[in-house]
Amino acid sequence: MKAAVRYYTRSGNTGKLAKAIAEAVGVEALTTDVPLGEDVDVLFLGSSVYAFGVDENVSKFISGISVKVGKVVNFSTAALVKSTYGQVGKLLAAKNIPQAKEEFYCRGSFGPMHKGRPNEKDLKAAAAFAKKVVNG
Ligand SMILES: Cc1cc2nc3c(=O)[nH]c(=O)nc-3n(C[C@H](O)[C@H](O)[C@H](O)COP(=O)(O)O)c2cc1C
Repeated sequence: MKAAVRYYTRSGNTGKLAKAIAEAVGVEALTTDVPLGEDVDVLFLGSSVYAFGVDENVSKFISGISVKVGKVVNFSTAALVKSTYGQVGKLLAAKNIPQAKEEFYCRGSFGPMHKGRPNEKDLKAAAAFAKKVVNG
């Protein structure tokens, strides 16, 4: 199964998840500045919430996808909302790209909130999740 990891991070929280996921599935974690260069079976796409919306880097990346993507697996961090699954799902639906039902989400530090998150436990859980997605 061919996998790829793309993510957008401002303060590094989602970037930590991206690196744990990429290492677990044996690919490089690249930012949403790097377009997909070839078809993939599964794209792990990481994002977070800023003032209730995903960053426009994420929407630009999705609208620029020009290869075949089997499914997108969402992963995200946020301080208050549950995840970016719904917002990213709408962007994917506009491009007819399937979004997997499974996702990975954990709290991300924001000022005094959720200090240290994602923590080691979160990163281990993200890695285990990614392995399960790829290996079944
Ligand atoms: C400007 C700004 C606005 C934010 N707005 C929200 C928000 O509306 N809802 C929420 O759950 N978290 C919000 N957060 C918290 C981030 O989603 C959280 O810190 C996340 O882990 C950041 O991920 P990153 O370090 O990968 O960019 C906000 C953070 C910033 C910096």
